Amino acid sequence: MNKWTFPTKIYAGKDSLNRLTEFNDESILIICDPFLKNSPNLTYVMSLMESKNKVAVYTDVVPDPPITHVAKGIEFMEGIKPSIIIAIGGGSCIDMSKGMAYFGRKLKHMDIKSFIAVPTTSGTGSEVTSFAVLTDSETQIKYPLIDDAVLPDEALLTPLFVKTSPPSVTAYSGMDVLVHALEAYVAKEANNFTDALAQKAIELVFEYLPKCYKSTATEQDRMSMHEASCLAGLSFNKAGLGIVHAMAHQLGGQFHVPHGLANSMILPYVIVFNCVHNTDVAKKYAHLSEKLGFTSYESSEQEKLSALIEAIVRLQHSLDCPMTLTSFGVERVTSEAKLNLMADRALKDMCYRFNPYPANHDDLVGLYKKVL
Ligand SMILES: NC(=O)c1ccc[n+]([C@@H]2O[C@H](COP(=O)([O-])OP(=O)(O)OC[C@H]3O[C@@H](n4cnc5c(N)ncnc54)[C@H](O)[C@@H]3O)[C@@H](O)[C@H]2O)c1
Ligand SMILES: [Fe+2]
Repeated sequence: MNKWTFPTKIYAGKDSLNRLTEFNDESILIICDPFLKNSPNLTYVMSLMESKNKVAVYTDVVPDPPITHVAKGIEFMEGIKPSIIIAIGGGSCIDMSKGMAYFGRKLKHMDIKSFIAVPTTSGTGSEVTSFAVLTDSETQIKYPLIDDAVLPDEALLTPLFVKTSPPSVTAYSGMDVLVHALEAYVAKEANNFTDALAQKAIELVFEYLPKCYKSTATEQDRMSMHEASCLAGLSFNKAGLGIVHAMAHQLGGQFHVPHGLANSMILPYVIVFNCVHNTDVAKKYAHLSEKLGFTSYESSEQEKLSALIEAIVRLQHSLDCPMTLTSFGVERVTSEAKLNLMADRALKDMCYRFNPYPANHDDLVGLYKKVL
């Protein structure tokens, strides 16, 4: 039996923030991404709140949130005792807030009635996933906290905030969406429901991500990418991911390569790798390539797969995504010991086990060598 549910209530559209006007007499904690600090957008959010609410703002958020930051945040919360938490920011802000809400409820027995996520990047899908990716600053290892209890109670998808996203953030977080959907599409727990969500997300990314990367992006373009991000999140939350993410987490931990970019670099090589080792995956991706219009029905399976890879590489070029670590500015990794360490850690990463083929240590080292 396959049992699953989408518990997060989703409000989508330009007016979705109006949900915030419905709270009254609450102790509200807004945890916001530093880019929002002192911005008119934050003032706007505050203006939506009824005056009877007590509202506090916490902005000590950094990319790839360390566990120590979660602990500091919980200390701050103890003075506020929030009944509502609203996280407004990218995946890092939402993940840190997830940690704060989770441990606040579990360890400090705080009565948090609702935890609301307002994503400002179209990327992680964190607003609807049971994961919070936290980093151990000492070892530089990213640990996912996985529990349905970290799921936000509500997600507000508004295109208003993503508008300020710099082009590189739009590009990298957008590539994260594509990788979520393409990995979920062939992951071990994929089924017809998750495939439908992933397929729609992939379709939207190819159509709207190049538009969002340009300064001419419309609100509708932004909203479409925002929905793609959420669809992909819903898909991988059930289907799982794979070795692109297992490997990318190490590049993030070791070299601070932005999460979506690390995924983007590895993606084409893993698609080829998985297709070579699993004929069902090759069939599924070939079919997808045809459905997306990259190739015709008459083309061979090999031609369909090549067309899919070419479309991904074209997209990466159109978004100016560096394709290797050195082109991103990381000093060339020559140490075999470092590669072995990353491969070992990727084998232990929770995303690894959802990959449709059990890559071994040497496979992972070989794949890392392609993106040096
Ligand atoms: N929980 C999950 O399911 C999940 C899934 C994938 C990735 N992640 C994690 O999420 C993190 C990456 O999140 P991300 O890609 O959203 O990036 P991010 O949250 O790290 O943000 C990147 C940068 O962009 C800025 N920013 C965010 N939104 C902006 C906006 N609208 N305008 C201007 N600046 C803005 C942030 O301040 C930050 O400096 C990583 O730690 C990754 O491991 C979590
Ligand atoms: Fe991701």
